[in-house]
Parts: sequence; C-alpha cells; structure tokens
Amino acid sequence: MAEDVSADIGLVGLAVMGQNLVMNMADHGFSVAVYNRTTSVTTEFLEGPVAEMDEAAAPITGHETVEGMIQALSTPRTVMLMVKAGGVVDAVIDQIAPLLDEGDVIIDGGNSNYQDSIRRTADLAERGLRFVGAGVSGGEEGARHGPSIMPGGHADAWPVVAEILQAIAADAPDGRPCCDWVGPDGAGHYVKMVHNGIEYGDMQVIAEAYDIMGSMGMTNAQMAEVFRGWDDGVLDSYLIEITAKILDYTDPETDEATIDVILDAAGQKGTGKWTGIAALDAGQPLTLVTEAVFARVVSALVDRRQAAADVLAGPQRDLAPGAVALDDLRDALYASKITSYAQGFMLLASASQEHEWDLDLGRIASLWREGCIIRAAFLDDITAAFKEDPDLDNLLTAPFFTHAVNGAEPAWRRVVTAAISAGIPTPAYSSALAFYDGIRSARTPANMIQALRDYFGAHTYERVDELRGEFFHTNWTGEGGAVTSGSYTT
Ligand code: 6PG
Repeated sequence: MAEDVSADIGLVGLAVMGQNLVMNMADHGFSVAVYNRTTSVTTEFLEGPVAEMDEAAAPITGHETVEGMIQALSTPRTVMLMVKAGGVVDAVIDQIAPLLDEGDVIIDGGNSNYQDSIRRTADLAERGLRFVGAGVSGGEEGARHGPSIMPGGHADAWPVVAEILQAIAADAPDGRPCCDWVGPDGAGHYVKMVHNGIEYGDMQVIAEAYDIMGSMGMTNAQMAEVFRGWDDGVLDSYLIEITAKILDYTDPETDEATIDVILDAAGQKGTGKWTGIAALDAGQPLTLVTEAVFARVVSALVDRRQAAADVLAGPQRDLAPGAVALDDLRDALYASKITSYAQGFMLLASASQEHEWDLDLGRIASLWREGCIIRAAFLDDITAAFKEDPDLDNLLTAPFFTHAVNGAEPAWRRVVTAAISAGIPTPAYSSALAFYDGIRSARTPANMIQALRDYFGAHTYERVDELRGEFFHTNWTGEGGAVTSGSYTT
C-alpha cells in the first residue's frame, strides 16, 4: 500500500476530521503517512478524496500497520492522533510510544480532557517523548481549509510542530495564524474546553433570541433576515451567519422548514459540562455557560417537560408582535455574549494562575478570531482590550466593553423583563444580567449568608468595621459559647 517516503508527519485516525487535516497538510506541502485501524477506510480515502486532490499537493501514503507508518517518517518523528477522546487515545499512545525514539512528538488533536493531557505530557516526558495536547476547532470545513489550533504540552515540542500546525491553521484578518503555543501540559486542551463552553453559551444566546422572535409570531424567513442583519454589525460571527442559513433551509422530505422538524432536545458530548465543572472547582462565576449546559439538559427531558406543561401554571409565551423591539433583542444578546466571554476569560486567568501556565489571554482571543466555531469580529475587541491591559481581570471593565454593556443595559433589562412576563425562559440572558448586577454591586446580601452560617454552624464572619481576614463569631443562642468551626472564604 505504501511507497517508501520520508513523510513530514504521521496521522492516526481517518474519520472526517483526520482525513481533512491530512489533505490540508498535503495542500500546504507537508507529506503525510496515514494509518487507520480499519484498512479499508485508508484505501477508500486514498482512492477517493486523495486521488482527486491537486497534483501539486505533497504525497499522502497509506500504511496497513502502525509500524509501517512510523518507519515512513522523517526524524524527529511527529505523529498526530485524531481518534476518539478518552481510553482510545491512551491505547493508541501505548501502541506507538514503544516504536518512537527520544525527542519524537505525539500530538493529540481530539477533544481530550485537559487533565488527561496533563497526565500524558508527564508520562511521555518520562519516556523521553514530547506530547502535545492540541485543541482543534472548526469542524470538518475548518479541518480541511484552516482550523483554529490551540496546542499545549511539552514546550520543547513546539519548535518541531510549529511550522506545520501554523501552516494548516486559519489566518486571522491581520495575517497571523490562528495557532500558537498556549502553554505547558494541559493548557491547550483547557483552552479548547473553554472555547467549547463559550460555544455552548453563544448557541444558547442565539436560541433565546430565536425563541422570543418566534413567540412574537415572526416567520422563519423574517427571523433569518434579522440574523443576517445582525451578522453585519457588532454580532458579526460564524454562528449568527449559519443561524440565518438554517432558518432559510427547507427539509427536502417534507418541504417544511428544516428547523421546524428538528426535535427540541439538545445533545452534548461533554466539553460544556467539563467547563462548568472546572469553573465550580476553580470558584469562578461561569454562570452563562453553565446555564447553557443546564438548558440543554432541560431540553432533553422531553417527556417530563410535556407532562409538566399540562399542570404547571403560567403565561403561555403570549408576546404580541413587536412586543420586544428587535434592536433591544440584539442588545440583550450582545451584552449577554460579552458577559459570557468576560466570565470565560476569568476562568482562563484563574486556571493560568493555578497551573502556572502563564496564558496570554489576548493571544488566545486572537486564536479564536478565525477558523473555529466561535469565530467573531468582536474577538478583535477582546484582543485589543488585553493588549491595552494584559492584567485586565474583568473584561466588562475594559473601556470598550464598559461602553458597550452600559449602552445595551436598558434594552437587556427590557428583554429579560418581557420574557419573564411572557413565561419564556431566558437562562442565558437572565443569568448574565444577574451576574452583571452582582459584579456591579458594592454590597450584596452575603452578610445574611454569613450570619446564617455562623448561627447554625459557628462558621464565623468578617466584619465591616474590622480588617479583612479577621473572623468573628456571635453566640446567637447563648448556648454555643465561643467555639467555632473554622472559617473559609472560597
Ligand atoms: C469545534 C467544536 C467541536 C464539538 C462540537 C460538538 O470546536 O469544532 O467545539 O469540537 O465537538 O461542537 O460539541 P457538543 O456535542 O458538545 O455540542
């Protein structure tokens, strides 16, 4: 099957993402040796898509064994894995690591959990191998024509893989590749995880606008028009663009709008949930993304929703046409989206500190500018905000975004109020607004939380009239005495 060539890179796993990355590499002049567990997939790939490629592309060779693929590689060898995240990655690493030499590189391009990437970087380093956990975003099209790539892991691997990964990545409007070294061990997959969490949030804020427009009686065609218009302004992004296309799409089977024949039960593969868990672990308020995960969970409870719909009282989504101004809706979406990114970057900053990853948040924003699913014009504004202040700890307080949310705030509140009054759940808009109001509250009711904790469990509290870090206890009932149970503040 294979000719003997010195291939620049090996790739294991020829599902659609793997195939498209291989062709992208060959288009950019990198020869690729490929292996897939089921050999017929390799044969079909070579005889089909590869045979149809431009003759100028670098060679792609298929191999029936992992050994054969590895022998075809120039040294130091680089092998990229595009296999299912989880145990399969470990199984493939166990298969290929013994065949590699010191200094060779393994790249895992799947949606792996960052904790696995931390472990794999350390384990492989002990065996003299350099591991890269690379988040790859952009779906099939991105993989073929330029994804966003977020590599992290063994820092010595970067000089080996930089040329090829940056060549196949998308270019941002400023010409810089949407691929750069993110940081050590699990940093690449962590950043990809947060990207995916933000993707959940972005989709939820779109879905809520769609819900409100639908409740006002707008047709799919009218909604498509609105989303197309929004794609021309501050919301200019891939997900807004494809929302308009989806709303215009007709189901060939039924001749109905495809969106209307899709069951309202959202799926998920887990990266949004991981992001929520990471936020809870880190004590970071990632409320919008987490609400977006829960909104998917609620949507999937189809039978329970239908049973409850018959018995639970409330308004029936009775919004009059025009009850919510479309400009208000755009502003609510925009302000919620800004809040979501502010929360996402707070999580990244906290992970950077906890793991000592030294993440460059501005550069990360620019990696998402093109190629990935959340690509959007406003990522340029986020990049600029971090460039102006690399220590920015709350995106909402960067002058550009303060101006944007202050301008949108009255409309945002009107939309949430109208939705609540009409019985339309807007978990993303509402939770983002609650966060916004919380973070701008100089005083919260948490004094009551502290009093309650101290009353029932002697958990102590800090006082407004004493220094921070000093803890006090009140003997509320006259029975507990001065014994406390220790204080913790996070
Ligand atoms: C990307 C996407 C991709 C993800 C899908 C589905 O960046 O290309 O994030 O990695 O797998 O979007 O994710 P869910 O099934 O969890 O929605």
